[in-house]
Amino acid sequence: MAAENWVRMVTAQTPTNIAVIKYWGKRDDNLILPVNDSISVTLDPAHLCTTTTVAVSPSFDQDRMWLNGKEVSLSGARYQNCLREIRARACDVEDEEKGVKIAKKDWENLHVHIASYNNFPTAAGLASSAAGFACLVFSLAKLMNAKEDNSDLSAIARQGSGSACRSLFGGFVKWIMGEAKDGHDSLAVQLEDEKHWDELVIIIAVVSSRQKETSSTSGMRESVDTSLLLQHRAKEIVPKRIVRMEEALKTKDFGSFTELTCADSNQFHAVCLDTSPPIFYMNDTSHRLISCVEKWNRSEGTPQVAYTFDAGPNAVLIARNRKAAAQLMQKLLFYFPPNSDADLNNYVIGDKSILKDAGIEGIKDIEALPPPQENKDALRYKDGVSYFICTRPGRGPVLLSDETQALLDPQTGLPK
Ligand code: DP6
Repeated sequence: MAAENWVRMVTAQTPTNIAVIKYWGKRDDNLILPVNDSISVTLDPAHLCTTTTVAVSPSFDQDRMWLNGKEVSLSGARYQNCLREIRARACDVEDEEKGVKIAKKDWENLHVHIASYNNFPTAAGLASSAAGFACLVFSLAKLMNAKEDNSDLSAIARQGSGSACRSLFGGFVKWIMGEAKDGHDSLAVQLEDEKHWDELVIIIAVVSSRQKETSSTSGMRESVDTSLLLQHRAKEIVPKRIVRMEEALKTKDFGSFTELTCADSNQFHAVCLDTSPPIFYMNDTSHRLISCVEKWNRSEGTPQVAYTFDAGPNAVLIARNRKAAAQLMQKLLFYFPPNSDADLNNYVIGDKSILKDAGIEGIKDIEALPPPQENKDALRYKDGVSYFICTRPGRGPVLLSDETQALLDPQTGLPK
């Protein structure tokens, strides 16, 4: 390896995901091995994603990381596990343009700089660790010329955060729990790609919350230790739901998809209540959103929208098509209108064409909305929702070859 002060960089973009059959509970805390399989839908990275630039240079004297512009420590076991596993798979690299040659054995002594940025507010509680660890592992693998495929990489990302393994693919993804003690068979596979069921529209209600939430990691540990319902769910319920969900996805059976998605979200929150002391992730607004969807689905006879909630009060609503999404948008804005001085542009973000389909151009259109047919005496709630994000199923990780999108300076390897 030449001793010059070169910097070699790779930038990647990775989506976040939302589980429709939940992962809740580990059988091994260190390796992050789950007690059941789970299935998720990948969200369009145009609206929710992490971008990560990783760099290597002989001039770096330690591994360093910046998250949304602020330096963070890499000393935690989860980061260290991912870095160790990916370094072990590094291969020879030859970059003719830069005149750089790195031999496989050199990687042990070289340090990396990592800069990561989320295109959505980290504080909103939208699974930033899933996209973050997936992007870290994916970009390092490319930097180090690791030959592993995305499923193999998912087993490394899993050691950063369980749900991260499902962000290595687009569309619908299954995390197979595996059986091996060392976790090599606990990895993600793609069930269907993002084009398979592209009529679906996803609306996320970011719910205002003042409550400090229990982290997924500590919440699920307490559930494993105290909830009998969790044991029953993992052994008896989830395996059957996984089979039915795979079939529903394959045949695009929205009725079964909705039944399973809603039931599984509700059971996950029931497990949280069954934990001692009980964990409350949903709040009054979450419950109102559920009842709004349940009332509408019942009145239509066939389900129009599925709902699911992770370890927080935000609702992820999956509409069967654009028409249902536009109707849903009208109902949501009736129940949860923005403040009259709010800017609609900041209240509904992401794919704004749904708003157009709903015939809503300004605050006045929202004030004029009639109560939903199925709930004529409906009340309007102020301040329950911070904003809505309109999105859809999306693609998996990609490399960004345009150096202007890099988060690190190509000369210094420090944040731009
Ligand atoms: C409720 O993946 O955040 O979102 O593995 O401890 O990092 P760790 O937990 P995490 O848990 C996610 C739990 C969930 C359900 C899911 O995504 O399947």
